[in-house]
Amino acid sequence: MLRAENLHKSYLLGRSALPVLRGVSLTIQAGDFVAITGSSGGGKSTLLHVLSGLDVPQRGQVFFKDEALFEPEGTRRIPVGRDSSFVQAVAESSADRHALPHDLRLLENRRNDLRNASFGFVFQFYYLLPEFDVLENVLLPQMVGQSMGGWLSGRSRAARRAVELLERVGLGDRLKHRPNELSGGERQRVAIARALINEPAILFADEPTGNLDGKTGRDILNSLKSLNQNGQTLVMVTHDRELAREAHRVVQLVDGRLQ
Ligand SMILES: Nc1ncnc2c1ncn2[C@@H]1O[C@H](COP(=O)(O)OP(=O)(O)OP(=O)(O)O)[C@@H](O)[C@H]1O
Ligand SMILES: [Mg+2]
Repeated sequence: MLRAENLHKSYLLGRSALPVLRGVSLTIQAGDFVAITGSSGGGKSTLLHVLSGLDVPQRGQVFFKDEALFEPEGTRRIPVGRDSSFVQAVAESSADRHALPHDLRLLENRRNDLRNASFGFVFQFYYLLPEFDVLENVLLPQMVGQSMGGWLSGRSRAARRAVELLERVGLGDRLKHRPNELSGGERQRVAIARALINEPAILFADEPTGNLDGKTGRDILNSLKSLNQNGQTLVMVTHDRELAREAHRVVQLVDGRLQ
């Protein structure tokens, strides 16, 4: 389903380059549950961002169902920061909720469209929008992915699906809460529902339990596992060996390469 070949990624710090990925190759099959581990600062988030097209590598390629995500080497625009366009787009849009479908500049190119349609992303720090309630947060990727007309006509179906997903993660009775009215574990479950709203082919999760206490973290992991048992392809970054053991396959990022 996803094939990464010889990925190289460095960050520029002034005039010196900090190499983070130094030739990473990885294949992910449909239905896989892959855990990526490694030490802090080793490049796990960087790798997840490149695999999911949120960030651009200097060298190497990622193929999603045989389609290349990145332009030919040498012709790529490498973003300076690491914010995803999704996060940027929703952050910009949050200034005026009524203008949302208009103001969200629909994602710029094919990679972004593909990402929105086919990838779900759960971030370590949730990135929920504070002025939207739970249901609206989950619906955002649907708004981003559609024209105004498409959004309006599909809206009630999308809302039903969002409610269903929220019920699945145990938040059916929290639809109107704002993120600041939720616990950490509840916020992460909203983020999981949001990542699933577009029925992604692959769900990427970056330390999804990193900020949660042991029991809450375990609940989140169990939700992810049961999604995978129902066929969801899952790629999860964690530094917790115990959590990693639940995956079908564990790869370790060491010195910019996978073991
Ligand atoms: N935008 C950036 N500019 C410069 N350096 C960066 C940037 N983003 C990350 N880095 C550096 O790249 C290295 C890899 O960062 P990354 O976030 O991928 O590590 P990680 O394995 O996810 O770490 P952690 O387990 O702490 O989350 C780190 O040394 C970090 O300081
Ligand atoms: Mg990280």
